[in-house]
Amino acid sequence: MKNKIISPSLLSADFGRLNEACDMINASNAEWLHIDVMDGVFVPNISFGFPVMKAVQKRCTKPLDVHLMIVHPEKYVERFVDAGAYSVGFHLEAVDDPRPILDLIRKKGAKTCLTINPDIPVERLYPYLDEVDMVLLMSVFAGYGGQKFIESSYEKLDALRAEIDRRGLSTLIEMDGGVNVDNAPLLFQHGADALVAGNAVFSSDDPINTIDLLKR
Ligand code: DX5
Ligand code: ZN
Repeated sequence: MKNKIISPSLLSADFGRLNEACDMINASNAEWLHIDVMDGVFVPNISFGFPVMKAVQKRCTKPLDVHLMIVHPEKYVERFVDAGAYSVGFHLEAVDDPRPILDLIRKKGAKTCLTINPDIPVERLYPYLDEVDMVLLMSVFAGYGGQKFIESSYEKLDALRAEIDRRGLSTLIEMDGGVNVDNAPLLFQHGADALVAGNAVFSSDDPINTIDLLKR
């Protein structure tokens, strides 16, 4: 059976207790830590940037899975790798041509990821599937944690899984937004490789156990 990757989103952590959040992640069975960077332009919200990420990187032993919700990602992707990113993802709809930006990330030695919001047809990702390590499907509109999962995301996931398998690619699929212990098993069944979970993990009374439940 395929490895089920859980990437808890730091966005839902208590920002006054980031060390504790990192210690919890380190002690858990989460594979990655998801880092949501928002610029107030591409999305209406502003989250955090390099200084916070550097501090987290010092404390956290898990790979940092960075999700940039920003305009002009080409200006910043290298600095995110320097700040400790394992993978760097940016939005296809935020750029004219993703290829030079994917090159920048690759040359810095990080994994590449392309992502789309729920209103972007999944077919827009197909030309790049053999050039990226991972694609991230948003199952809520980028901008805030704690939103409700958009049910039509399953259809996009199915189409993407079929296309990746048809072409014999090893590109990973990550789902992000509204993931919880109820829909996680179904998302893995539909062929997701990695699930981001913010609210489900950090508002749980027992986050470490919730991470295990997400993998059931
Ligand atoms: C939304 C972010 C997500 C979010 C997930 O803009 O990209 O990663 O933090 O949070 P939940 O799991 O609470 O929907
Ligand atoms: Zn995210």
